[in-house]
Amino acid sequence: MSAVLEAPTQSPAVYDPISRALHWLTVLLVAAEYIVGSIMPSIHRGTPLGTMIKIHLALGSGLLLLVLLRIVWRLTHRPPPAPPLPVWQRRLAGLTHIALYLVLILMPLAGWANASARGWAVRGFGVVPLPALVPQGQRIGFLLGDVHADVLYWILLGLIAVHIGAALYHRLVKRDTVLGRMLPGW
Ligand code: HEM
Ligand code: HEM
Repeated sequence: MSAVLEAPTQSPAVYDPISRALHWLTVLLVAAEYIVGSIMPSIHRGTPLGTMIKIHLALGSGLLLLVLLRIVWRLTHRPPPAPPLPVWQRRLAGLTHIALYLVLILMPLAGWANASARGWAVRGFGVVPLPALVPQGQRIGFLLGDVHADVLYWILLGLIAVHIGAALYHRLVKRDTVLGRMLPGW
């Protein structure tokens, strides 16, 4: 009986492999989107749909599908227990994560609406055909292009900076297990 009580039956405090894979794939795609978005030709009325822009649309719309899948997975799988943290830190982390999920949906949606207004067909990862979000030439689609490139661009970067700063603070200053839950061994 005591042997049963002593045997640790809890799984190690790390995110499950699917959550971790989805997290790091998201990181890869977001980084790729910032890089491709910055080196693709700047887009004006009548800009042709060149290869770099096609890659931007394919990866970004793929990212949207991935984030939706990630949210479903997150809602059905509890995260591992965290080390004891002050309530304000726990709340700030929760709010940052919700804001990240929200902006990771809004950013691709705004880009997609802009692509539709320009008459560009969008396929998730260049494969899954997606409908036009707004009719071609629609003003709101062009407006959302500005929101994508000038507003959400900075909001997402700011959230990522806070998030990475917090991860490094936990690893380098507090030296607790927060980073190791998403990156086992660290
Ligand atoms: C999180 C995902 C995304 C990121 C980080 C991202 C990032 C960027 C960046 C850095 C630019 C260039 C901004 C500039 O220098 O003016 C840009 C422009 C653009 N992106 Fe994205 N993008 C994402 C998703 C998407 C998606 C899913 C689509 C469409 C399906 C898309 C379509 C566009 C378009 C059409 C532009 C040109 C907007 C304009 O200049 O009016 N993006 N994006
Ligand atoms: C594009 C960049 C990134 C995005 C969009 C992102 C997004 C997210 C999101 C949404 C969560 C919440 C997971 C949940 O729902 O439980 C999360 C958790 C986490 N991320 Fe990131 N992340 C990024 C980059 C990074 C980097 C570079 C690191 C490490 C240096 C990192 C470390 C972590 C850790 C340790 C957690 C778990 C935090 C906790 O459970 O309290 N992330 N990330």
